[in-house]
Amino acid sequence: MKGLFLAGAALALMATPASAQVTKVTIQADKPGPTIDRQIFGQFAEHLGTGIYGGVWVGQDSKIPNVRGIRSDVVAALKAIRVPNVRWPGGCFADEYHWRDGIGDPAKRRVTVNSNWGDAIENNAFGTHEFFDFVEQIGSDAYVSINVGSGSYKEAADWLAYMTADTRNTAGQERAANGRKEPWKVKFLGIGNENWGCGGNMRPEYYADELKRYARFTRNYNPTQQAYFNPANPSSPTPNPDQMLRVAVGPSDDDTSYTEGVMKAWKERDWSWSMEGLSLHSYTVVKWPPAYDSVNFGEKEYAEIIQSTLKMDARIKLHSAIMDKYDPEKKVPLIVDEWGVWLAKLPGSPDGFLQQQNSMRDAVVAALNFNIFARHADRVRGANIAQMVNVLQALILTDGPKMVLTPTYHIHQMYLPFQDATLLPVTFDAGEYRQGDIILPRVDAVALRAKDGKLWLAAVNLDPKRPASIHGAIAGIRAKGASGTVLTAPKVNSINTFDAPDAVKPRAIKARVANGNVEIELPPHSVTMLSIDE
Ligand code: AHR
Repeated sequence: MKGLFLAGAALALMATPASAQVTKVTIQADKPGPTIDRQIFGQFAEHLGTGIYGGVWVGQDSKIPNVRGIRSDVVAALKAIRVPNVRWPGGCFADEYHWRDGIGDPAKRRVTVNSNWGDAIENNAFGTHEFFDFVEQIGSDAYVSINVGSGSYKEAADWLAYMTADTRNTAGQERAANGRKEPWKVKFLGIGNENWGCGGNMRPEYYADELKRYARFTRNYNPTQQAYFNPANPSSPTPNPDQMLRVAVGPSDDDTSYTEGVMKAWKERDWSWSMEGLSLHSYTVVKWPPAYDSVNFGEKEYAEIIQSTLKMDARIKLHSAIMDKYDPEKKVPLIVDEWGVWLAKLPGSPDGFLQQQNSMRDAVVAALNFNIFARHADRVRGANIAQMVNVLQALILTDGPKMVLTPTYHIHQMYLPFQDATLLPVTFDAGEYRQGDIILPRVDAVALRAKDGKLWLAAVNLDPKRPASIHGAIAGIRAKGASGTVLTAPKVNSINTFDAPDAVKPRAIKARVANGNVEIELPPHSVTMLSIDE
């Protein structure tokens, strides 16, 4: 790829020989950029296949170690990666979910059919209380998506009251009678899901009208989430960092109709409603329906998937440009609340369960997407990978009592320094990786200053065959040392299985330092996180 990247923007063109090359990376540590919001590491847990049932919820009587029905191995793994938020209950499921089915005596809960996902029987054992128990166990925030497609304003408003009102209110008393006295915190409220598709196939104007009513009437009563009253400026309350953020349904892939329609409505809003996020759904898929096998693929399929995932950058630019038109101050974040690689279902797995394996290639996909989100940190302030356990690009796979962490999980762990870090400009020549007609960048890099002040360089070698040498310099500063972790594997389609859970696992690395510059060789198909001592 011919180009230099400065915090994500292609700046200049420079031809580079495709063979052995040294990539010079210069970090501008003295030019801090925007904060990389930790919410870009959000998860998505839909009632879909074994994403919840089996993957998170096993029930209190299970032999699988659990706390109040929630499996302890999965909780421990998720705690370790400091999941900032979990989006629930869907997905398409959200627009058919009726929250009252999932509260009260489990033995008396309604049994329904999950028509979106394989007609599975939904016994509603995992409902509102179980979800909040789960997010509290992993130390995360709740992202609740309300039912706009087949619900009502009243149903949604009642759910919010049930979750957030205190016990002076009948809704709070009902919650307390069901075992939870204190109101819960709802950090994100998704107002529908894909209402351009499975959520009711609405025109953007129609959805925008629905949005106005849901945004107004689904009130959060939690006393800790209210805007502060500011006596000096009574008409303009001081924002509360814990305030609930209402996320409107936005675009899919390159379709800009919802971006235009919803942002126009927001621009023309009056005092009665607002929104604090616009969602983008964009999957890595070569063509629909997804047919590529998650394990048996060759270099051509590898390159096609990487090419598809890199479209995320252009998509964010496309929608950001429209958002800038209506919101030049970037008040409304773009929340990429469904992203990830969508492949063919595993042979023998049930239809509609979206089960796939997760390979080293998918770790590269995850790292590239986080790098893209980081470069767009000024607008992208949230994202949710699809999905957390057992579904699509899962971080965790389970089978009965067995659990395995996928290569995608390891990227989440390696990228922990990204959480609320400051993006730093970085310049480099990305080089080229060619496969047939496909030309891709050979390396990718992001620099950041973590919250604890440490300087980090994240570097991806996209080339599945050739190593890449990086010579990193910090403008005006001599590096003293550098070490970190690298994730790679013998093959780009190496996977972790229940029998071989550590086939793809990060290992420690140390870089050479010469003349104040950091030198490191990136193995083929690898992701490296390097902490640089200044
Ligand atoms: O993640 C699977 C599905 O993909 C979600 O339910 C839906 O929102 C999207 O189409």
